[in-house]
Order: sequence, then C-alpha cells, then structure tokens
Amino acid sequence: MAPTSIGLSKQAREQTAKHLNNLLADEFVLLMKTWSCHWNLKGPNFISLHELLDEQYHALVDFVDDIAERVRALDCVALRSLHDCHEHTRLKEMPSEGALPDEMGMIAGLLDDHETIIRELRTSHDNVEEYEHDVGSVSLMEDLIIKHEKMAWFLRAHLEK
Ligand SMILES: [Fe+2]
Repeated sequence: MAPTSIGLSKQAREQTAKHLNNLLADEFVLLMKTWSCHWNLKGPNFISLHELLDEQYHALVDFVDDIAERVRALDCVALRSLHDCHEHTRLKEMPSEGALPDEMGMIAGLLDDHETIIRELRTSHDNVEEYEHDVGSVSLMEDLIIKHEKMAWFLRAHLEK
C-alpha cells in the first residue's frame, strides 16, 4: 500500500476525519429531514416552500459527497451506513410517529438544524486549523459555513413578519 505523504501526519488526518464524519452524519440527517419536509409539508405557502426545499436538498446532497470525499482524500474511511449516521449525528431525527409540524414548524425545525451545524462547523474549523494547518479541510468548512448561513437566512426569512 502506498504511504500517504501529503504533509499531514496520520494522527492529524484521523482527528480531522472524526470532525468530518460527525459533520457528514449531521448533513445526512438534515438531507433526510429537508427531503421529508419537501414531500410532507402542507399549507398556503406549499409551492414556494416545496421549491425552496427542493433546492436545499440538492445542495445537501453535494455537501454530503464533498465531505465524504474529503475524508477519503485524507486517506481515512468515510461513514459506511445510515446506522453510522445515526450514531454520529448531533441532530434529532424527524419523529416517525405522531402529528407532523405545520409548515412554519417544519421551517423553524430545519432552521434550527442549520444553525446547529453552523455552530458545530465553527468548533470543528478551529480545532482542525490547529491540526498541522490542514488548509483543505479548513477551506471546505469555511465554504460550508457560508452556504449553511445563506440557507438558514432563506428559511429564517419565512418566519419573520
Ligand atoms: Fe421533489
């Protein structure tokens, strides 16, 4: 097997991959929740919210792939299963039973998840920057913070009078 010689120690790469895999789990859960709201929401704003969430779940698919591929670029192993996602995520899954939230409840819930991810990203960013200045992972996290902040704004705007 060829050694990994990209100027980052195995320890630094593995520490960063832990942050990235936790983030990958969060993005997967948020992808599923966004998709579920896209399908299940009802109400007077159905078309505009259905379309907004269509855009957002497509963006989240790209985030999932970019994060997993970054883990592989560090020569570490990306999460393998939905079970792994469930184990690693910091987000709460959509309840399987009971009444669904109304449309604004769904938007507020998704906003809360984006904001949680943004806060986790800031913490991971600062930690990863210390691990031998892994600029590739830091730059990915900075890009994701900007994109999640914009997605959060688009959701928040629906909740403001
Ligand atoms: Fe759709």
